[in-house]
Amino acid sequence: MQPIQAAFPATRLRRNRRTAALRALTQENSLSVSDLIWPVFIREGEGIEEPVASLPGVNRLSLDRLLVRAGEAVALGIPAICLFPYTDQSLRTEDCAEAWNPENLTNRAIRALKAAFPELAVMTDIALDPYNANGHDGFVENGVILNDATIPALVKMALAQAEAGADILGPSDMMDGRIGAIRSALEAAGYGDVTIMSYAAKYASAFYGPFRDAVGASGRLVGDKKTYQMNPANSDEALRLVARDLSEGADMVMVKPGMPYLDICRRVKDEFGVPTFAYQVSGEYAMLRAAALNGWLDAEKSMMESLMAFKRAGCDGILTYFAPEAAKLLQR
Ligand code: PBG
Repeated sequence: MQPIQAAFPATRLRRNRRTAALRALTQENSLSVSDLIWPVFIREGEGIEEPVASLPGVNRLSLDRLLVRAGEAVALGIPAICLFPYTDQSLRTEDCAEAWNPENLTNRAIRALKAAFPELAVMTDIALDPYNANGHDGFVENGVILNDATIPALVKMALAQAEAGADILGPSDMMDGRIGAIRSALEAAGYGDVTIMSYAAKYASAFYGPFRDAVGASGRLVGDKKTYQMNPANSDEALRLVARDLSEGADMVMVKPGMPYLDICRRVKDEFGVPTFAYQVSGEYAMLRAAALNGWLDAEKSMMESLMAFKRAGCDGILTYFAPEAAKLLQR
């Protein structure tokens, strides 16, 4: 038998792209509002929506404004909000005691949100940096970021947040052993149902710059975070971190930053098949937004393409400052 010498390509992949209907039928992944977690910066005061210079379109909200914006998010169908406090500079100390104060800004915000919108999932950040005089996620002694001494402080933070009603705790500190310690403390205190989303594969990234402005930690950070956050050159190590955090009691895991680490998202999802989230961090938002504001990129299209990429990479959801805007587009 002679092979058929086709005068045409037997497989025309363009057939399935010919019309919008055919493209919709053959679309492999989808983005929906229920994939979005909205990170929000909060501050003291009343009636304040204070712009963050390096994050155009993002504001630090006083708690009354937080409730207004959260109400809009709920109406848009956004399932979760993640709180990040701009702590008064006077409350940043070496002992970080404000971090586990039951009446600190974050804990008051959790209570207010849960009272107003019980159906909205409230996520928190567990790390000492917004409360630390030197901007680090753990206690510092002679320039060394202490692992084991930091754990009890993180546990106290977690318990205060759980007590305030947080649904999802997000340890972002990268100390070894904190997930297990937090999990057993939660169980012992009667908070066994509280979810932990571990910032499992968190890289020592240049893309956090605008965030540190937003929480007022930029000028403070002494040195860098390379002794606890991951080396951007590593990939296998991310799998070890995820395996470790799952074995210690994490319910969900996160890869952070997002867009430069989509390969890590895919490996984590393929290897473990657990709820996997990516954080499209401040620097990623800032670069897309800056290009759009200059007219160099189409704002809506580049935003939606960047978010779809996370779904294609296997993520179940995305923490993104674009959440309200994306949700509005998805509602149309
Ligand atoms: C702090 C924390 C950081 C971010 C979330 N939690 C900054 C850091 O590790 O220095 C960054 C988020 C962003 O850039 O949007 N533990």
